Amino acid sequence: MLLAGQVTIITGGGRGIGRAIAARFAREGSAVLLAARTQSQVDAVAAEMSVAGHKAAAIVADVSHEPDCQAIVNAARKHFGRVDILVNNAGVLGPVKSVEEVSPKEWDEVIGVNLRGPFLLSRLVLPEMYQRGSGGIINISSVAAKGAFQWNSPYAASKAGLAGLTRTLAAEAARKGVRVNAICPGPVPETEMSQMLGQALADRLHADPDELFKALLEKLLQGKPQTAADVADAALFLASSQSAAITGQTLNVDGGMSFY
Ligand SMILES: NC(=O)c1ccc[n+]([C@@H]2O[C@H](COP(=O)([O-])OP(=O)(O)OC[C@H]3O[C@@H](n4cnc5c(N)ncnc54)[C@H](OP(=O)(O)O)[C@@H]3O)[C@@H](O)[C@H]2O)c1
Repeated sequence: MLLAGQVTIITGGGRGIGRAIAARFAREGSAVLLAARTQSQVDAVAAEMSVAGHKAAAIVADVSHEPDCQAIVNAARKHFGRVDILVNNAGVLGPVKSVEEVSPKEWDEVIGVNLRGPFLLSRLVLPEMYQRGSGGIINISSVAAKGAFQWNSPYAASKAGLAGLTRTLAAEAARKGVRVNAICPGPVPETEMSQMLGQALADRLHADPDELFKALLEKLLQGKPQTAADVADAALFLASSQSAAITGQTLNVDGGMSFY
């Protein structure tokens, strides 16, 4: 098992990509602490993991609020004694609007969850990791950080900011035994976020969502979408010692859409 005896915090672990990462990490021997705002979802995933014989616990928290981030870290320590890996996966899509239509409140909300949340949690877990001289942080960014798409300014800015935060954290942490990397997934159509985006774009363009999605897939080298399990496999690689010499990177899991 690649993560035997480790403890992982996974934000946004109640559904979608976070849920797939939780299942993958638990199967590899990590205890998982799941955090999100919807209690029924995090509880259901934790129960599913526990029934399968894994160590799992859940907490209701909003990662854009500092006290909630402290509560997440406290819960991991209370249930499992330590934090070895932090997966900053919680994210919101935000408004599908042009820049001049986005309100400052909408902007702040997206940045608060997608960028401030990872900052808040990272600063809380790093001292413990530094003390032990080991640990890993994985930030779930997006192809939106690298491409040029209309109507997603706060989302794209938050995800590009997360790539910048990843590099800074990696530079600060590298000589202290901690690795920090990001993943940029392409479209994962099984998720609520991807479905919301597809519908919002179709509404804006007065187009059929399936046709729009087909046209997007044509732009990927592999011509097919990604799965939450694909992203979870990449996260496992970055969390495990198999990627021991990799830090400060943004790994594209996008079927061949971004090339830097
Ligand atoms: N789906 C895609 O195609 C795609 C592509 C590239 C990148 N991503 C990124 O992948 C990550 C996972 O997204 P997903 O596709 O799995 O979307 P999703 O199904 O909408 O899941 C998002 C998760 O984040 C949680 N969350 C949202 N706001 C939160 C907050 N303030 N505090 C704590 N948890 C919060 C949600 O739970 P609650 O709502 O209950 O809080 C949910 O568990 C996101 O960072 C997203 O930007 C997704």
